[in-house]
Amino acid sequence: MSHSVLFVCLGNICRSPLAEAALRQECAAAGLNVIIDSAGTGDWHVGHAPDERAQAVASRNGVDIGHLRARQVTTSDFHDFDHIIALDNQNLRDLVAMRPAHAVVNLSLLFDHVAGRAGEDVADPYYGAEDGFDQTWAEVTEAAKTIRQLLEIE
Ligand code: 4NP
Repeated sequence: MSHSVLFVCLGNICRSPLAEAALRQECAAAGLNVIIDSAGTGDWHVGHAPDERAQAVASRNGVDIGHLRARQVTTSDFHDFDHIIALDNQNLRDLVAMRPAHAVVNLSLLFDHVAGRAGEDVADPYYGAEDGFDQTWAEVTEAAKTIRQLLEIE
């Protein structure tokens, strides 16, 4: 059985490409066949590669994300993916607002998949220090383990 997961943040150059990479790594290690993608609610960075700091932290953790290109969420994503996972509450609100009436997709917040952190935002590392990206990587990696288990039992 195949599943599909779309991660959504604001710019699709920092947090959601890292979440995509972390889940890709988890699923590959578990031999799980899952379609994984990411997108942004905003359009400022459409066509751009991930932020160099995001590329660096992914690379330090064994994943190359240099080929990824940012794209904006579309209404067809709500039909094409089984799960759409927002990186923060504002992204989740934006997704709820644009969800087509008949879409059956599971919308959730990334931290709802981490015990004890439900409802929290993955902080945006874009304007912060370099080590913010290490924190983002740790957070999305922790969530990816639970999301992988969810996909395995579905
Ligand atoms: P992301 O970070 O949502 O994690 O990709 C951001 C990147 C760029 C901008 C905002 C957030 N921006 O406003 O350009």
